Amino acid sequence: MSENISYNLPLLIASDHAGMELKQELIKHSQNLLWNDLGCFNKEKTDYPDWAEKLCKKLKNNMKAILICGTGQGMAIKANRYSHVRAALCWDSKIAHLARSHNNANVLCLPGRFINVKQAISILTVFLTTPFDNKPSYERRVEKLNHPQ
Ligand code: RB5
Repeated sequence: MSENISYNLPLLIASDHAGMELKQELIKHSQNLLWNDLGCFNKEKTDYPDWAEKLCKKLKNNMKAILICGTGQGMAIKANRYSHVRAALCWDSKIAHLARSHNNANVLCLPGRFINVKQAISILTVFLTTPFDNKPSYERRVEKLNHPQ
């Protein structure tokens, strides 16, 4: 299985030990993507907030990124502390579609212990190819995400 997802911007990705295997598999099966793998690179136990922090600090405007831990929850909680990040925990492609079209999510959080690489590829494909539906109501709600600061 090898996928050619149509997306040509650099993609940051990071995981903790519980997400590392899925991270490696995902990269292996979508080699046409411009991955910037920030780690981790072995199964030594490590703290998910450190990886989320590393990635979020590198995330620039208009970029998208992927974070993977055991459940995806810890990564999403930490990533959403940064005001330029809209991180969405997605376990299927319908959720990913809504995370992009309604929430304009820019960071995809995946639950490494609960999905396989095939599922991860379909979620990622939808996440990377679905535009934000910039209806006024969706725009207004996304604007409100950072209020109050
Ligand atoms: C690590 O055991 C696990 O807690 C972590 O990967 C993640 O699921 C936390 O949200």
